[in-house]
Amino acid sequence: MSYEMYQEAILDHYRNPRNFGELKDADISAQGDNPLCGDEIALYLKLNSDGEVEDVKFKGRGCAISLASASMLTVALKGKTLEEVEKIDKERILKILGILISPVRLKCAILPLEVLKVGLTASKHGDK
Ligand code: FES
Repeated sequence: MSYEMYQEAILDHYRNPRNFGELKDADISAQGDNPLCGDEIALYLKLNSDGEVEDVKFKGRGCAISLASASMLTVALKGKTLEEVEKIDKERILKILGILISPVRLKCAILPLEVLKVGLTASKHGDK
């Protein structure tokens, strides 16, 4: 994909976020904010009996980068095992976004991933 196509994809996910909403019966949920701007993202994951992500939703407010990152992350999470989910790191997110992210916007890009990590850690300790 060209740089323009990545930019277009980000705008598309921002304008038409995939999996936007809330899951009442989520197995894993978490929320967090970007301390630099106060924007917030909440993430909800529902697992099936095989421990795979059956459904995932997010809600919140933020800039184009943070919301596109959250939307793209939810798309990437569907059908994955928890083991695979745990392997998703910053580099993977930046690869999915595909554009150069300035240091100032890095927090925006990584916010959804940070929320996911909080949820995974909490679920291991038995909290939701
Ligand atoms: Fe708030 Fe990007 S400016 S998350």
